[in-house]
Amino acid sequence: MIILGCNGQLGQSFKKVLAHNSDAKFLSRNELDITNNQDVQSYLNSLPAGSIVINCAAYTAVDKAEEERELSSSINTEAVKHIADGCKKNDHLLIHFSTDYVYSNTENSPSSEDSKISPINWYGETKHLGEKYIVENLKDYLIFRTSWLYSPFSNNFLKTVKRILEEKGEMKVVSDQIGNPTSTVMLAEKVIEILETKIRAPGIYNLSGEGQVSWFEFASVIAKEIDPKFKVHPIKSSEYPTKAKRPSYSAMSKEKVKSTFKVEIPHWDKGIKECLIELS
Ligand SMILES: NC(=O)c1ccc[n+]([C@@H]2O[C@H](COP(=O)([O-])OP(=O)(O)OC[C@H]3O[C@@H](n4cnc5c(N)ncnc54)[C@H](OP(=O)(O)O)[C@@H]3O)[C@@H](O)[C@H]2O)c1
Repeated sequence: MIILGCNGQLGQSFKKVLAHNSDAKFLSRNELDITNNQDVQSYLNSLPAGSIVINCAAYTAVDKAEEERELSSSINTEAVKHIADGCKKNDHLLIHFSTDYVYSNTENSPSSEDSKISPINWYGETKHLGEKYIVENLKDYLIFRTSWLYSPFSNNFLKTVKRILEEKGEMKVVSDQIGNPTSTVMLAEKVIEILETKIRAPGIYNLSGEGQVSWFEFASVIAKEIDPKFKVHPIKSSEYPTKAKRPSYSAMSKEKVKSTFKVEIPHWDKGIKECLIELS
């Protein structure tokens, strides 16, 4: 089992979950730059046929992507094509991750995998084009659309909230965007559990924490857990302009993944305490 982009928050979570699996190999950007097609092909050709390739590498700076269009596209779309081509040639199983930002949900009920696709920002567009290529070209793949990742690793919303509250004691957070926060450790555990079922059901699956909240509610739970004296104030998205647009509602239904693989998905806040303990 190969994990690409192993120094990101999901990659590091796989490292944690697979710590005792001596068959797992972890490759950072320095060890394999997925935008280098020649290197990707020769690496994937060197693996035994039928290997499992888990791609955690991505360009994830949603706002910056609006300006760095070529770079974000080269990582989230073009490089995914390289990986998909190498997996197809060698019969490797590709595990890839996409985002809730591919949907254009206007109904305020959770998106299912066949809901309308219409990315609201450039990051979502680059991720959509990456997953589209996989679906159109591979037989053996699993794409997990996930959202609002948090972990003790790299940069994420939980760590930003913690830092600001510890510096200032209070902060303002938007309360009119709703989604599913997701622990990356839970996500990595579920992917491994799904692989261990040996059920082969290629396709796209939503996989995020159960339950839906606004960023404000998400931050409030983090604040309460760190120190109930910290204050989080709700604001509207219009009071916090960003370069990239974000959907007001992007929660996802997990019925397909639960019924196909018979897995249970924990509530979104399940990993928060553990994450904060690890950070302290
Ligand atoms: N973060 C979220 O809230 C979120 C939400 C929805 C979906 N997702 C998806 O979930 C997956 C995991 O996201 P994440 O939050 O773990 O991402 P992350 O923390 O930003 O990590 C991405 C990793 O990709 C690596 N990388 C970037 N360009 C590369 C290249 N050319 N070659 C090899 N590696 C490269 C980065 O390397 P360096 O360490 O060297 O920078 C980094 O380690 C991604 O597919 C992402 O699109 C994330």
